[in-house]
Amino acid sequence: MSSPQEQGIPAPLTGLPELLLPWYDRNARVLPWRQEPTPYRVWISEIMLQQTRVEAGKPYFERFISCLPDVQALAEADEALLLKLWEGLGYYSRVRNLHKAAQMVMERWGGQLPDDPALLRTLPGVGGYTAGAIASIAFGHVVPAVDGNVLRVTARLLEDHRDMAAPQVKREVEKWIGQIIPRHRPGDFNQALMDLGAMVCLPGGVPLCEKCPAAAICMGRASGRAASLPVKAAKPPRPAQSFTVLLLTRGDRVALRKRPSRGLLAGMWEFPMAEGLLSGKEAAAVAESWGTKPLKPPRDLGPARHIFTHVRWDMTGWQIEVENPCGTEDFTWVSTGELSSAYALPSAFRHYMEALALPPSR
Ligand code: ADE
Repeated sequence: MSSPQEQGIPAPLTGLPELLLPWYDRNARVLPWRQEPTPYRVWISEIMLQQTRVEAGKPYFERFISCLPDVQALAEADEALLLKLWEGLGYYSRVRNLHKAAQMVMERWGGQLPDDPALLRTLPGVGGYTAGAIASIAFGHVVPAVDGNVLRVTARLLEDHRDMAAPQVKREVEKWIGQIIPRHRPGDFNQALMDLGAMVCLPGGVPLCEKCPAAAICMGRASGRAASLPVKAAKPPRPAQSFTVLLLTRGDRVALRKRPSRGLLAGMWEFPMAEGLLSGKEAAAVAESWGTKPLKPPRDLGPARHIFTHVRWDMTGWQIEVENPCGTEDFTWVSTGELSSAYALPSAFRHYMEALALPPSR
């Protein structure tokens, strides 16, 4: 058996497990999916946490699991229910992929998630990190689960100034982590790294080194450069798009329409929108062109901005009370009660939901 150095593992990493696991035993966060780490629960939690903070994800997780307790229930669920359970979390393709994946797990494996990371990766929405997390936490396989948090911890520990998001760097870190994972506690080790990244080795330049179990072996701390790592490659600026949101109301009802089945927020409900930032007069003219008849001057609902991964929406909004809840467009007129209980609206519209005095989606 060759020594860690002969295998090319940087020295600070080889000392990590013996420091990290005892720290985890004392400090691990109590999280609902940890108490009963079944493959289904771990899978749901990992997908939910892909773009959501742990604290924000907890109540969503509990509600999701109590409504849909197993793969079969998820596979058979209505999409409208899934979107409602996901409302406020954003990135709705995650829950659509969960749905498709559950149907595949039913067809291929009779409802049992496979334990092999390569098979897990064939499921929609499951990449290398998620497959590693499920395989290690739920099945005890000795495989890495390297996400942005683990890359940040590694960059600081090793004082690595490379772009950690570069695929070849990530592959190298996965190889190293795969070699140091304690054989008897792979899921705990991976989760200890996640907790270290979330509670101590914080993003945004503020690592709490005095609390870190690995402070003594951290090269970033020794050089005083931990806070400036990882090096971030400059991102191209997000393009901005401008829209006017029209809340067409008639008494208690408001017009919704479905977005196209492809692209951003595919198939989601939205308030009708027109391109550009329109004045009240222009917005009323658009409402008329859609076959509705404005009754009063539009009410100014003000500006709102929503940042998506690849684009930014700058919006302005007008409420327009109209004569009949009809129109030439394919609108669905729903009561505000139905809107909060049965229709999932993306959080991009939160400001305008609030303008209707609806409880805001989280
Ligand atoms: N982030 C993603 N998965 C996690 C887990 N299992 N524990 C803590 N943080 C996480």
